[in-house]
Amino acid sequence: MKNLAINGGPKTVVRDFDWPLYDETDIKSVADIVRSGKWGNPDCGGEVAIFEKEFAAFCGTKYALTCVNGSVALRLALIACGVKPGDEVIVPPYTFIATASIVIEANCVPVFVDIDPRTYNLDASKIEAAITPRTKAIIPVHFAGMACEMDQIVSVAKIHGLRVIEDACHGHGAEYKGKKLGSIGDVGCFSFQSSKNLTSGEGGIVVTNDDGLYQMMNSLRNVGRVEGGAWYEHHNAGCNYRITQLQAVLLSSQLKRLEKQTAIRHANGTYLNELLSQIDGITPLTRDLGETVHSYHIYIFKYDQAKFNGLSKVEFAKMLAAEGVPCFMGYPEPLYKQPLFQKKNFMCYAIPETVDYSKVQCPVTEKACYHEAVWIMQHAMLGSRKEMELFASAIVKIKKSTK
Ligand SMILES: Cc1ncc(COP(=O)(O)O)c(C=O)c1O
Repeated sequence: MKNLAINGGPKTVVRDFDWPLYDETDIKSVADIVRSGKWGNPDCGGEVAIFEKEFAAFCGTKYALTCVNGSVALRLALIACGVKPGDEVIVPPYTFIATASIVIEANCVPVFVDIDPRTYNLDASKIEAAITPRTKAIIPVHFAGMACEMDQIVSVAKIHGLRVIEDACHGHGAEYKGKKLGSIGDVGCFSFQSSKNLTSGEGGIVVTNDDGLYQMMNSLRNVGRVEGGAWYEHHNAGCNYRITQLQAVLLSSQLKRLEKQTAIRHANGTYLNELLSQIDGITPLTRDLGETVHSYHIYIFKYDQAKFNGLSKVEFAKMLAAEGVPCFMGYPEPLYKQPLFQKKNFMCYAIPETVDYSKVQCPVTEKACYHEAVWIMQHAMLGSRKEMELFASAIVKIKKSTK
């Protein structure tokens, strides 16, 4: 026990992992915009439109539209899909709040469907049972950058006439059966918030191949204006969700590195899976359900406290972080346990009285949150192969100390 870094022993991993990464080309691109004095984006053109074309080409979609963040990207997608008050939207409970709170903001009802224990993504086999005549959309979250089972999800959506909005906020550059995440459903939504694999500090984008959804999302993010319409002509209840030219050039510059960085994270994730599967009590998530590239926004593994002499996940994660592995216990509880849902703090939003989240139980999510899931963050996944070995040996060191 004394040897553990948490108790003052030597750290297993001694260097810090920086994020974001940038060089003089990023600085110059932003400086040029600063000098130009054209910082804003009143007509959704200039560098913003250039980045949107680049990102659409990267994802293999017809359109991409930037907006202020990933939450708004999801909001634009949901509203453009034509949901009405009281409609139900299927979401996983192992995700960031925005996946479900944007549903509330649209006066719709988030319906939580449990995750698959193999992947921690929405369990495709459980979706059908949750569909009612009021269901209008499914929001699969490619959690951590691991692809959801999109064939099954799209097929169940087709049968029931539902829209599929991919929450790809962790999935920049990741692929399902060779297709970029975000390009498979009706709309794909990404975040450029500061922790994300592609970042401009804040920001978001939607991608789609659907002309109608594109027109509506373009209008909604630009105060309800329409293409070809006048400046003071507002057709839809949108808002100013535009990003700046400063963000756009930074994103264009960062995008040039994304493919290479994704390949490094993917290779390191594959190697770490190999290493960790040799440790009794540690299980990597399954990667054989159609995922072809994993973006490893988070590297998640399953921890079994019984194999660590009863050491709780929370204590284990603290010890591992002290060893210098950039890790974290992840979400401490399922999303539906938040006061927003339990107390129904829905304010002005018209969610039916009958909705009661105190009865929701998703056992796989509960196990993941309370006992099992440990997260290593994406910037650490850009480390060397040797550092992946150090991550594994830090776990072995903790395990030995529990004997
Ligand atoms: C899964 C998921 N969806 C949506 C979002 C929202 O993105 P943003 O923070 O850019 O609004 C996040 C952000 O962390 C996320 O993790």
